[in-house]
Amino acid sequence: NTIFADDIKEVIIDEKAIEKRIEELGKEITASYDDDADIVMLCILRGAILFMADLAREIDLPVVFDFMDVSSYGASTESSGVVRIVKDMEENIEGRHLIIVEDIIDTGRTLKHVIDMLQTRDPKSIKVVTLLDKPDRRVQKKIDADFNGFEIPDEFVVGYGLDFAEKYRNLSFIGVLKEKLYK
Ligand code: PRP
Ligand code: MN
Ligand code: MG
Repeated sequence: NTIFADDIKEVIIDEKAIEKRIEELGKEITASYDDDADIVMLCILRGAILFMADLAREIDLPVVFDFMDVSSYGASTESSGVVRIVKDMEENIEGRHLIIVEDIIDTGRTLKHVIDMLQTRDPKSIKVVTLLDKPDRRVQKKIDADFNGFEIPDEFVVGYGLDFAEKYRNLSFIGVLKEKLYK
């Protein structure tokens, strides 16, 4: 799609590259579990929705879908540090394998909060898959992905699920937002 073309400074990951990397991630994830593993894929709303949908179809194992709505940014490019669980997940994860699906790990605050909370529910394992990782911005140093699509520099990116003030999520690529739009 070409909507918002004037708002994007640069496309850093195009549609083809996303597709190819997700195929690889799907294979990696498939290979790391037994065929009969009981797996719950947890999509962290709202940003991870497109990644979850595309990734799940590249995983050759039966998986259960669940969703948790977590919000920390609001209408800003800076994480507030206050992580809100807007909607909890529905599945009982005790004794089951959990795959947390994120679009991006930035400061790591969102994931830290989610992992700490879910660990108390005694899943058999927790693994994290993220499409994007911004290691330079990490505040929670121990928070990392088990499967990572792309490491990216510290620039404000939108598209393929990622928003600025709820806009740009339906772009089919990852692009850098022009600074004048949020400065
Ligand atoms: C964004 C993004 C991650 C999180 C990463 O979500 O989707 O979930 O921030 O940032 P962090 O590592 O600094 O915590 P956001 O809170 O904007 O909600 P959204 O997914 O609905 O856009
Ligand atoms: Mn999010
Ligand atoms: Mg957001």
